[in-house]
Amino acid sequence: MRHFLTLKDYTKEEILEIVDLALAIKQEQKAKKPHPYLAGQTLAMIFEKSSTRTRVSFEAGMFQLGGHALFLSNRDIHLGRGEPVKDTARVISSMCDMVMIRTYEHSKLEEFSKYSAVPVINGLSDSYHPVQLIADYMTMVECGRHIDPIVAYIGDGNNMTHSWLMLAAKLGFQLRVATPKGYECDPVIVADALELAKYSGAKISFTNDPKIAVAGATVVTTDTWISMGQEEEKAQRITDFKGYIVDDALMALAGTYAIFLHCLPAYREVEVSESVLEGNQSVIFQEAQNRLHGQKGLMVWLDRHRK
Ligand code: CP
Ligand code: NVA
Repeated sequence: MRHFLTLKDYTKEEILEIVDLALAIKQEQKAKKPHPYLAGQTLAMIFEKSSTRTRVSFEAGMFQLGGHALFLSNRDIHLGRGEPVKDTARVISSMCDMVMIRTYEHSKLEEFSKYSAVPVINGLSDSYHPVQLIADYMTMVECGRHIDPIVAYIGDGNNMTHSWLMLAAKLGFQLRVATPKGYECDPVIVADALELAKYSGAKISFTNDPKIAVAGATVVTTDTWISMGQEEEKAQRITDFKGYIVDDALMALAGTYAIFLHCLPAYREVEVSESVLEGNQSVIFQEAQNRLHGQKGLMVWLDRHRK
């Protein structure tokens, strides 16, 4: 049985298999062909943070696959009142077929998965957001930008950046990360990614200059400067990230071939300008919809890999 906590645990072949499966199931849905691969199964979804895309895509996706999804807010289940993770994991996994968790500490996901009898999916932690990267890579494939990509990530060294590091390290592509000083990625995750890059041939570089990162890039991406849980740092972060907005001037350095990705929610005129977000290089709503298809592919893949 496999869990899906970080792309670090997956080979290049496995990541591509999940993406291919997701693209195939997307075609089935577009052709209105029923695809009840998870008929009768139940997905438990535990949310300790807010969500629009993750909740809707997992819930709708499970329904379309013939199963059922349970929304469990931290405020409503005993986990939020101090019931141990290991007890919650054994109880929920004795009744459901898969579990998705959105939480703060990545270690909570690891602890849950240790005690879970069924596959556990990371729906975002402070360290990683791997389901988003399945959708992002699908979008790159659909746009033909998966061939020798040069991805520029501009902004905070956060869970999204860490996930891009792992994707690049596994698939072997070029990734340039531009963060302000003091907002660099977790050095342990960077070291892991650079070690993996030795085998995959990925070219991963870091800079404090967004212009260097985007020059000639084929994919430009960013994320909020204020992640969930960092609300109190908002004013300081807005000051510290000055000059990191992805606007038309920055996109022009990438050129017209580049696509723009953003996991959303986006804050207009903060990390990205309205003109880039709504412009013709932006594929953010295709990317958002691919959350649905990507996770359907992932859930079917995990189901097929049960022992
Ligand atoms: N991108 C993403 O995970 O969005 P939500 O926070 O709305 O789920
Ligand atoms: N980095 C953001 C991603 C939101 C989908 C956060 O963690 O809030």
